[in-house]
Amino acid sequence: MPAFTASAPGKIILFGEHAVVYGQPALAAPVTALEARAVVSAQMGGSSGEIWIEAPDIELTAPVSELAPEHPLRASLAAAAGTQDLSRIPACRILITSTIPVSSGLGSSAAVSAALIRAFAAFLGRRLPDQEVSDLAFEIEKIQHGSPSGIDNSVVVFRKPVYFQQGKPLEFLAIKEPFEILVADSGIPGSTRAAVDAVRQRWLANQEECEGLFNRIGEISGTAREVITSGDPRELGPLMNENQVCLRELGVSTPELDRLAESALEAGALGAKLSGGGLGGNLIALCDTAAPRIEGALLRAGAQSVLPTTIRG
Ligand code: MEV
Repeated sequence: MPAFTASAPGKIILFGEHAVVYGQPALAAPVTALEARAVVSAQMGGSSGEIWIEAPDIELTAPVSELAPEHPLRASLAAAAGTQDLSRIPACRILITSTIPVSSGLGSSAAVSAALIRAFAAFLGRRLPDQEVSDLAFEIEKIQHGSPSGIDNSVVVFRKPVYFQQGKPLEFLAIKEPFEILVADSGIPGSTRAAVDAVRQRWLANQEECEGLFNRIGEISGTAREVITSGDPRELGPLMNENQVCLRELGVSTPELDRLAESALEAGALGAKLSGGGLGGNLIALCDTAAPRIEGALLRAGAQSVLPTTIRG
């Protein structure tokens, strides 16, 4: 029985989250040790329009016709098919699995959409270019997160470190020297939508203060891009710490994330910051030689897990 499989990685935001929603640049990289996967298998003998979807991670097994049109999985299928009317699609079964923790700032929703759009389009005989997959996944991100910037779908679809600014062409980062990051899970779920909404409320209440912070974060992202493409990656440490101060002032850090950052720095990390929406989710720490010691310190400070990842071009 023919099956069509596609996957997409997790991601971390290195610099610039939240400010990127307000037009500032941000940097993100794929985390290939984590991935979402979609497998579409033709069901011989089934009737057109019989599409079963199984996503054990969210305990979903249902015919697609029972999902609301705005359900992200159904919306992804419609996007891949180029129509809301799925009644003429050949019978199939779709299995979605993911090792990317949900509500953790690691891009799980964008990766699921990207993998599903790609696999379903292939099943329908449509070869979609990466940019189109990214644009379609962006539409699904809007359903899920309200007003996303588009950085998550870009990095997971292209699977490369990116410098991203809304309204400008996507730039792939040429990384001069690879660097090591530890990704530590605070164990507290953090909803991107809630975090983006919280920042929006803060911005509405005090635009001058928030825009000052967004501008500063944008400058940090610009400097980080220079360092990554032509400097010594150890210089990213102080930039991460400064970015974390801005994120704390925007109200999206938490005592748990602050404690993880402090313990990583005490153990020798060169810099540490939350990554993604915040209000829970993950912290990233930049390491050079002391990675095992920093990993131990993060676990003792309450991290549920620590994932080492190398950022390379
Ligand atoms: C989420 O990974 C990053 C945010 O800036 C939201 C977005 O850019 O869509 C918080």
